[in-house]
Amino acid sequence: MRADAEPAILRPIGPGDIPACIDVFYQSVDPLYRRLDQAIPPRDPGSLARLIGHLLEHDAERSWLAESPSSTGDPEPPRILGFGTAWQRESTWYLALLFIRPEAQAGGLGRQLLLRTFPRGPLAAGSSAGVGGSGAGVAGSEAGVAGSDAGVAGAGRDASVAGGAEPGLMGTCVDSIQPISTGLYAGYGIVPRVPLFTAIGRPRDGVLPALPRDVVATGFEALPATYALADTLATVDRGTLGFARPEDHRFWAHEGRRGVLFRRSGAGEAVGYGYAQRSGRLGPVALLDDTLYPAVLGTLVARESPPGPFLALVPGVNHRAMVALLHAGFRFEGFPGIVGSTRPWEGLERYMPASFALL
Ligand SMILES: CC(C)(COP(=O)(O)OP(=O)(O)OC[C@H]1O[C@@H](n2cnc3c(N)ncnc32)[C@H](O)[C@@H]1OP(=O)(O)O)[C@@H](O)C(=O)NCCC(=O)NCCS
Repeated sequence: MRADAEPAILRPIGPGDIPACIDVFYQSVDPLYRRLDQAIPPRDPGSLARLIGHLLEHDAERSWLAESPSSTGDPEPPRILGFGTAWQRESTWYLALLFIRPEAQAGGLGRQLLLRTFPRGPLAAGSSAGVGGSGAGVAGSEAGVAGSDAGVAGAGRDASVAGGAEPGLMGTCVDSIQPISTGLYAGYGIVPRVPLFTAIGRPRDGVLPALPRDVVATGFEALPATYALADTLATVDRGTLGFARPEDHRFWAHEGRRGVLFRRSGAGEAVGYGYAQRSGRLGPVALLDDTLYPAVLGTLVARESPPGPFLALVPGVNHRAMVALLHAGFRFEGFPGIVGSTRPWEGLERYMPASFALL
């Protein structure tokens, strides 16, 4: 830690802090691209504000900021130096955003904010009971702050469940051009495992196959009002990434992502779902049977006519989606992200994320 590290106060993020968090985001991300002589990606502060709002709505206790101390009578409000926010769905915890202003970096603030977002107790399989608990878990202990072995081992232990049940999982996605965050999270057992590629393109006609005759695609909007869509999505989500996430499906619908359910004809059992947006954004896509990826992607792109190319995020382990998209004419863009997790994340080979922050 730098000797001249800026003093800071940590407090929960409130809705009124969102503009300052967006400013921190761009101030800390832009230098990464400039250093590598890369074009700065187009800005979309509106969608970032809605994302942070979604995280504050459902994960307020995991959303923290650091601000400069302000003495009584200061004419200026305290300056926000950095912020971090994570989400938890059942037994899975995921760091969505962590950013520190350049002038306040390398002083220990990122680590302190990260610890505040950690689960407060063991991540119990199939429940979020560990959150807000006694403080006996990772965030309740300062043992990890110094980067000691105790902190590292403690995070790994706290992410598992007593009694031999399926352990919980802690994950995130880092930029592969950013060794600091990669190293910071890996010290707590969230080690980089799976590359996440951005693929852009317009599929060549006829390359992506049609669905097999026994699989039916239905837009969410065309399902009967009595259909238990939320239950079906929860089953598919638990069968892919391992947790249900109804609040995220509601968020994607508000964001204009249009969902399609894929079911076996006859019995009608669900095999997965996928989203596409008018802008050309594909995902998330979750399939219980990954052999369907080429045809499911073909179905999704056939439903939209975006003004530019389609854009999809593809985990390196989802080889069926990756091969299908490349054969259809998609090309990789920029540097991949890297999904890190405290144990191998089963199901990523059958999943295509919505975004780096929500996965
Ligand atoms: C990444 C970021 C959040 C970290 O916050 P920070 O306040 O700068 O980091 P801290 O001082 O708390 O911790 C730095 C730790 O990173 C790790 N680290 C730094 N450089 C490293 C490297 N080259 N290799 C491995 N680990 C490294 C160390 O564990 C270090 O801790 P130590 O100094 O106690 O050894 C901040 O630098 C940032 O906002 N960067 C730009 C934006 C960004 O990339 N955000 C993350 C998106 S995934």
